[in-house]
Amino acid sequence: MTPDLLQKGAERVARVAQQRVEATESGGRSASYGRVVHDASQVDMTHGRILYLEEVSVSFDGFKAINQLSLDIAPGELRCIIGPNGAGKTTMMDIITGKTRPDEGRVFFGSTIDLLRYNEPEIAQLGIGRKFQKPTVFEHLSVFENLELALKTPKGVKASMFFKLDSRQSDRLAEVLHTIHLADSVRVQAGTLSHGQKQWLEIGMLLMQDPQLLLLDEPVAGMTDFETERTAELFLSLKGKHSLMVVEHDMSFIRTISDIVTVLCDGSVLAQGTLDQVQADERVIEVYLGR
Ligand SMILES: Nc1ncnc2c1ncn2[C@@H]1O[C@H](COP(=O)(O)OP(=O)(O)OP(=O)(O)O)[C@@H](O)[C@H]1O
Ligand SMILES: [Mg+2]
Repeated sequence: MTPDLLQKGAERVARVAQQRVEATESGGRSASYGRVVHDASQVDMTHGRILYLEEVSVSFDGFKAINQLSLDIAPGELRCIIGPNGAGKTTMMDIITGKTRPDEGRVFFGSTIDLLRYNEPEIAQLGIGRKFQKPTVFEHLSVFENLELALKTPKGVKASMFFKLDSRQSDRLAEVLHTIHLADSVRVQAGTLSHGQKQWLEIGMLLMQDPQLLLLDEPVAGMTDFETERTAELFLSLKGKHSLMVVEHDMSFIRTISDIVTVLCDGSVLAQGTLDQVQADERVIEVYLGR
């Protein structure tokens, strides 16, 4: 590659990095970039909990979408969340990630970080990664460029242009490529990937930031059976290294990956236990699984 082409490539990636700040799914993320809010390695888990919600409520126009919700997750746990449409699953994730502010209750990351004191970009920086349902990869960039982009702290176009992976980041990128089953597609343009591969790539982009907690909203919706199976393997491989909260309606997927399943209904916990336990629960059958 000539220096000219290299320069053009760097400019392209930098431009996208800039767009990414300006046009994120939740909007307005640029506010606190470049401001380190907390050292994510300092999340205090001495009480055996990485995430802790206590009596959280939020109303929209008088409708209580989340109602006295209490829930906690252990470090390294893979928690599955199920429940009928409108139960409040996505809203719960909105609250954890700072997109929605609850009217009351407490939300803690570890035992000392009060998440209600932080905004959305700050919470991402603290080590909580979120995957929305729709894949949001940069279609015209390669798999490699998408992952590289995930590492950039967009402090401006110029800084991004001269961004270069250090050896630790290169190692991380190689490890993530392998984890998300895309090692053979590193130079492939993201737009040509299958739906499932795009979802994996976006999970890979989150993993580049090494989040302690990952929130995944309906990750296998629209995937083929094969892609769903590979995603189950992927999540099981992440368990232990990260804590995961997975919202899904696909029960066979839940069966493959779950330890503890929490059933949400009307904005609070209806039941919790193994999948067999909650599937046998009359109240769960009534509101969700059907007779
Ligand atoms: N920003 C908002 N403004 C008004 N109502 C909202 C808002 N966000 C969520 N709701 C309402 O809160 C309730 C819970 O919605 P939520 O999207 O959290 O459900 P869900 O459990 O994720 O459902 P699904 O399985 O369909 O994704 C719904 O009745 C929804 O219409
Ligand atoms: Mg939802």
